[in-house]
Amino acid sequence: EKGGYDYFMLKEIAEQPKAVADTLLGRIDASGSLTLDELRLPDSELREIDKVVIVACGTAYHAGMIAKYAIEHWTRMPCETELASEFRYRDPILDTRTLVIAVSQSGETMDTLMALRHAREQGAKVLAICNTNGSTIPRESDAVLYTHAGPEVAVASTKAFLTQLVACYLVALYLGQVRGTKWGDEVGAVIRELSEIGTQVEEVLTTMEPVRELARGLAGKNTVLFLGRHVGFPVALEGALKLKELAYMHAEGFAAGELKHGPIALIEDDVPVVVVVPSPRGRSVLHDKIVSNIQEIRARGARTIVIAERGDEAVRPYADHLIEVPHTPTLLQPLVATVPLQVFACELATARGNEVDQPRNLAKSVTVE
Ligand code: F6R
Repeated sequence: EKGGYDYFMLKEIAEQPKAVADTLLGRIDASGSLTLDELRLPDSELREIDKVVIVACGTAYHAGMIAKYAIEHWTRMPCETELASEFRYRDPILDTRTLVIAVSQSGETMDTLMALRHAREQGAKVLAICNTNGSTIPRESDAVLYTHAGPEVAVASTKAFLTQLVACYLVALYLGQVRGTKWGDEVGAVIRELSEIGTQVEEVLTTMEPVRELARGLAGKNTVLFLGRHVGFPVALEGALKLKELAYMHAEGFAAGELKHGPIALIEDDVPVVVVVPSPRGRSVLHDKIVSNIQEIRARGARTIVIAERGDEAVRPYADHLIEVPHTPTLLQPLVATVPLQVFACELATARGNEVDQPRNLAKSVTVE
């Protein structure tokens, strides 16, 4: 049932190109516009919304963090992403014009469920982004957009994460389309780029041997740090979470801009630091700032492991290890940049003799608060 792979996780990583394509399937019409009739929320209601709040846990929360950048960019509406377990205990400000998006692979995560119940009590509309048909979270929501990742068996989430991202982008673009924001024109172009993503993920998967070799070489380390900026920041957090879960190593993700406000004190000789670099063809300011962060940490002895766009020559001189990914627009980069981090964590876990599919102390679905 593992389809020839040693672990479900490896199988699920390999299934990502198809999962991503499946999540797009049937949601783009012949003219290149989005059709999300299945949402069950009429466009007139979506036009009334004036604020979006995303609630989720763990990996799904990282997808939600990335969605915030996309939603604010394409809809020009304020969007907050919050850990579901924190949300309802601080008396959040919600009303009938708030759209709450609950992101959950299993649809059974108790923290997320309690957050959505609280949101509905306050009159907010709730949209579930979920991978499990008929599970509790979509059943209790006003609307649902299913991810079509197929069953995810490994405890560590991989293909569900990528499809959650695709679903979040679809919602962001759809809200932009329905509300006719000035970015409406971008929608068609972005949809074309999204349709290429499956092929690009496939391409990334064929270049993972050096990543596996690198991971094996780091099996004796105690700490790995991850840095990113903009949508690369949640990618860094996700890379660190995967490593904690699977390799049982101390791993921490930071916003690269925060480096000099504290974390740079952690940099010492040969500490591995994974840095996610945005496209130089996108927001070049972001790119240039992160390249100087890489120079700074390398000057202090860090071993730099750099995930960058193919052809990014500016970063090459400062990368002890360079992992290249295809060009995507800045907002979509997490779809390709996360994949090497999944492979990295999985291989490190194997090298350390850990059980990949069933990490200690973890459950696939957390049905208690
Ligand atoms: C990490 C992981 C967890 C889940 C989290 C939310 O690899 O799998 O962090 O993402 O428990 O689960 P769902 O998405 O089912 O609500």
